[in-house]
Amino acid sequence: MTSPSPADFVRTNTITAPPPLIPEIRLHLATEVTPLWEATEETLRKSNLPPPYWAFAWPGGQAVARHLLDRPDLVRGRRVVDFAAGSGLVAIAARRAGAASVLALEIDSFALAAIDLNAALNGVTVDARCEDLIGDPLPGVDLVCAGDVCYEKPMAGRVTAWLRTLAAAGVTVLLGDPGRSYRPDQGMEHLARYAVPTSLELEDRTVRETDVWRMLPG
Ligand SMILES: C[S@@+](CC[C@H](N)C(=O)[O-])C[C@H]1O[C@@H](n2cnc3c(N)ncnc32)[C@H](O)[C@@H]1O
Repeated sequence: MTSPSPADFVRTNTITAPPPLIPEIRLHLATEVTPLWEATEETLRKSNLPPPYWAFAWPGGQAVARHLLDRPDLVRGRRVVDFAAGSGLVAIAARRAGAASVLALEIDSFALAAIDLNAALNGVTVDARCEDLIGDPLPGVDLVCAGDVCYEKPMAGRVTAWLRTLAAAGVTVLLGDPGRSYRPDQGMEHLARYAVPTSLELEDRTVRETDVWRMLPG
């Protein structure tokens, strides 16, 4: 039997619903964690692909998306990158807030399918690339947003060093983080805090206080 295409897999295993903090945007989201995780393992076992992060709107991404929608001055007319985009929520919010262009970066090809479907669902266009660009310069980019990227030590270390280099080059860097273990605790300007309702299947509490930080140059 042939495997479903990534787009078919996303459609089949999700419903469309708004994330709790962003009622104005709908996404293809998992209703329950376990069945989707099992379906993903079954479908993707041979491909050795990662878990379906794209099927959830993580607290860090929700906080950044909320911030951009409430403060469109931060994004209007600017060239934006949503790094580690997952569902593409932040990219879609940036588009809605008037970004000149938006590039979503991911390393999971199923996330790319979800980003395309979610952008279309919300009537916006988002360019998406499946490539690990950590460490590369991002010429022509004004604003980089990263939602919930400090959950694993090796990744958080690489990402924060890179984001600081981008900040030093004049890029505005926003980080959304619900107090993950590996968030840097220095060189950050606090911009906002949101109470994000969460599922006990994913988090250890029903609400996560989530901060939006601007990363300062190193
Ligand atoms: C916890 S999810 C956050 C998704 C989204 N930003 C949000 O807040 O809903 C982390 C995402 O980082 C992506 N990721 C991990 N390493 C990456 C890399 N080097 N480049 C781009 N994306 C990456 C994963 O595939 C995953 O979708």
